Amino acid sequence: MSELIFLKLGGSLITDKHTEAMLRPELVRRIVEEIAAARQAKPELRILLGHGSGSFGHVPAKKYGTRQGVHTAEQWRGFVEVWRYASALNQAIMGALAAVADQPAVAFAPASSVLAAGGRIQHWNLQPLRAALEAGILPVVYGDVVFDTELGGTILSTEDLFAHLAAELRPARILLAGSDAGVYTRYPDGDVIARITPASYAKMAALPGASAATDVTGGMASKVESMLGIVQALPACEVSVFSGVEDGNIRKALLGEKLGTVITSDE
Ligand code: IPE
Repeated sequence: MSELIFLKLGGSLITDKHTEAMLRPELVRRIVEEIAAARQAKPELRILLGHGSGSFGHVPAKKYGTRQGVHTAEQWRGFVEVWRYASALNQAIMGALAAVADQPAVAFAPASSVLAAGGRIQHWNLQPLRAALEAGILPVVYGDVVFDTELGGTILSTEDLFAHLAAELRPARILLAGSDAGVYTRYPDGDVIARITPASYAKMAALPGASAATDVTGGMASKVESMLGIVQALPACEVSVFSGVEDGNIRKALLGEKLGTVITSDE
């Protein structure tokens, strides 16, 4: 089978972090066009798309502390509110994929198919998602609330979903497109680190800086650590953290160009 790529569109990229529940429609339009262009240039490319929540889900998630657990009636109200915001953003992305770029895509909402325990995925029937990939359809997942046998409910980020999916689907590459040019030595005025491996990360003096916007699912350091976990388990997989803001970057990355920070195993 042809190579599989996971592409995440970060919440900071596709939403306006300064205004609650505000999409960046021009950027989303350009991004879905770039996905279409890459698929046209390389029809055998198989892509699993994921997206974050940005100023949609993170705002109620922070207000109700949803990631830490859901027990009271008030917290369940918050859980539902996060679900509503996360799905609203997903609807906007699905709409753009269809209307702007004519891409055959189906959303796989984590809230309705994932069961977690203590924030770790226990059950997720991936047969429909695998069937979508085989049919040439773009499966779309996104950071969402999920039911959890220990926490009641919680939130899984796109990176959490990717970590589980990577073990099952073994992607050749994982592309994390955000609003930053990569992982910085110091945020925001340091340099972009060209390559991070488990060994180089262990020697890093300071952890990569956090993002400025509201982020309940951890900043850059937890993202890097989660991706290091993936490349250690799957040494053939390569991860890129790069900016999707610049014109053409997402298309180039999908077609194989190395952009931003590359995270690989030591081998
Ligand atoms: C966050 O998912 C999910 C919710 C807050 C509902 P992500 O962690 O993948 O989203 P971003 O990229 O930080 O916005």
